[in-house]
Amino acid sequence: LKEDTVVVVLGASGDLAKKKTFPALFGLYRNAYLPKDVKIIGYARTKMDHEEFLKRVKSYIKTPTKDIEQSLEQFCKMCTYVSGQYDKDESFNELEKHMQEIEKGQKETNRIFYMALPPSVFIPVSEHLKRCCYPKSGIARIIIEKPFGKDLGSSRELDRALRPNWTEDEIFRIDHYLGKEMVKNILILRFGNEFFGATWNRNHIDNVQITFKEPFGTEGRGGYFDEFGIIRDVMQNHLLQVLTLLAMERPISFSAEDIRDEKVRVLRGMPSIEPKNVIIGQYEKSLDGTKPGYKEDDTVPKESRCPTFASMVLYIKNERWDGVPFILKAGKALNEQKTEVRIQYKDVTSGIFKDIPRNELVMRVQPNESVYIKMNSKLPGLSMQTVVTELDLTYRRRFSDLKIPEANFVRDDELDASWRMFTPLLHYLDDNKEIIPMGYPYGSRGPAVLDDFTASYGYKFSDASGYQWPQTQIEPNKL
Ligand code: BG6
Repeated sequence: LKEDTVVVVLGASGDLAKKKTFPALFGLYRNAYLPKDVKIIGYARTKMDHEEFLKRVKSYIKTPTKDIEQSLEQFCKMCTYVSGQYDKDESFNELEKHMQEIEKGQKETNRIFYMALPPSVFIPVSEHLKRCCYPKSGIARIIIEKPFGKDLGSSRELDRALRPNWTEDEIFRIDHYLGKEMVKNILILRFGNEFFGATWNRNHIDNVQITFKEPFGTEGRGGYFDEFGIIRDVMQNHLLQVLTLLAMERPISFSAEDIRDEKVRVLRGMPSIEPKNVIIGQYEKSLDGTKPGYKEDDTVPKESRCPTFASMVLYIKNERWDGVPFILKAGKALNEQKTEVRIQYKDVTSGIFKDIPRNELVMRVQPNESVYIKMNSKLPGLSMQTVVTELDLTYRRRFSDLKIPEANFVRDDELDASWRMFTPLLHYLDDNKEIIPMGYPYGSRGPAVLDDFTASYGYKFSDASGYQWPQTQIEPNKL
């Protein structure tokens, strides 16, 4: 960000702005990541005056301490509001006028347009911004959030519509998973540690699991969700991003372009997902009857076949990974909140050991970021009995000053490659009315077949060892 930049949050009264955009902007401000004299303008259809807007901004942000409350007051001094339509030149001309007043006397005008908007208005808004609000000097950027289309065709269509007005350098497609600390740690762990680097391949790794679990259902977001489903909502984007970072070759540098080059290369080596390697589920009422099933949500059509859970296996046809299953799992209304990567190594050769559990490297993305390795050790004492123990890096214990991470973005060719892989499966599920997701109770681990499904791709659950990662029992704030 340059000094004197104006950040316009379009959709400033919506859910995304409230939950993510304004808290993130405030986080950047608090950590002194916003350059001097940045101004933030909220833009939305809702008519409200300046005071009312500031009241809302304040309500979006938790202020547990006096100190934070004071910085929020300062932050609000940077914020103003313009109300307008998403399809009218007059409205965007008003926004232009407002920006010009703010920018008076500046040599350059740098503008960032953050589209916290429903996809239906992406295109008209991007056209109006180019026509009425594009800066005469300085830089312009447009930031968009998923959904970037619903399949390969519609994603390309969106891209074609943005193209005449915005260059690839000006478009930023945000994937908020790329901003998560542990996701950003993947490349450092892999390439900064010889013992991981040397074993990071099909000779040593049996399978890789990437798991996303949420303990709540769609609760009010059913309208949006039903059109997309869990595969488009989190798998084609967030989990696939994690997968590519795990699987890509070493980039030439840590620059965003060099990393994206390698990500695209690995994606292009992946065949599209085969329906036989997929299971889907939809949550039903909880066993105790207190939590509603997906179809009981008023915003969801009664006959919906939308998956709220899916597990699927992806393969990479290259020398490093051929034959290694990458198992993605994602679901809403499950038994816990957890996003993690689990790399399961192959069995050690038998002979001196019988049934010794496999090594696992686990990267816990959230909650309570950590990396731990499950390894076998001798049980202290006279016998040669083994026990599973762990090498454990729990972030909150090791790092006292956890800073908020920066976000990262997805390039056009990367997006294209990922849609290409998912589209045949998505069309197959959309078009075949007889495919009904398997039911699972709200609050459970998912459809009953899940464990057999993952086991059939080689994942071994070593419950015989009775191992449980110790930190799961500790409240994160006690660490
Ligand atoms: C969003 C999905 O992209 O990611 C939501 O649309 C999901 O359905 C959310 O809840 C999860 O994000 P996080 O950061 O809470 O893991």
